[in-house]
Amino acid sequence: MSITTSIFFPDPQVIKPRPDLELTLFQCGEILIQLAAILPGAVFEPHQHPESQMGMLFSGCVEISVDGKKSILEPLQQAYVAATHIPHGSTILSEDGVLGVEMKYLIPSQLGKPIHEPVEKPIDEPILSLQSTIDDLTGFPCKFGACSWFEIAVLEIPANEKLPRFTTTQEEIGIILNDQLMMKVGEEEKLLEYGSIYYAPAGVTHSGYSTSDKTISLVKIGLPSSTH
Ligand SMILES: [Fe+2]
Repeated sequence: MSITTSIFFPDPQVIKPRPDLELTLFQCGEILIQLAAILPGAVFEPHQHPESQMGMLFSGCVEISVDGKKSILEPLQQAYVAATHIPHGSTILSEDGVLGVEMKYLIPSQLGKPIHEPVEKPIDEPILSLQSTIDDLTGFPCKFGACSWFEIAVLEIPANEKLPRFTTTQEEIGIILNDQLMMKVGEEEKLLEYGSIYYAPAGVTHSGYSTSDKTISLVKIGLPSSTH
């Protein structure tokens, strides 16, 4: 059996670091994406690391603590943002457990700074609230938020619609939340569903289409190339 690995459609690695947490990991260049499935009652004590981290819920409810400040996260409404070496932890509040995404990224411009020294750029607010808008490219309804090192959009793709060919100046990662979406990145094409992602490095053309009769929610995370 031959094993082919794709840059654009990275293979998932599923791990269970503890009994109440299952992570599906994807390495996208320097970026680590993890889809998390967390059982009710789970508590993650505050910890810190050199990577900046963000996360958003797809379902459930979480009390998140970033740098000692506590907030409630609701599905697809907010992202939490923890910069390099900022302590963060969480408590699962919902009785049905939680699905969500986290991204870890070692921001090159922040490397080499002593621990506890503030980063030079304005530090992002720990909670980024997404605002309802219309996506410029497609005209589809969208929720959008941006901070100093990433932007995130939840795009609602109507039934049987297309995502036009697009070449970003950003690295872009896409996660389909329901049903299936055919994506083409570079010359590779794959039918995606929850549990698989696409990764479009800066300068790589990508497009997609839906053959579903339902609205498909697509979470897109972009990292501006200026962070490189
Ligand atoms: Fe973390």
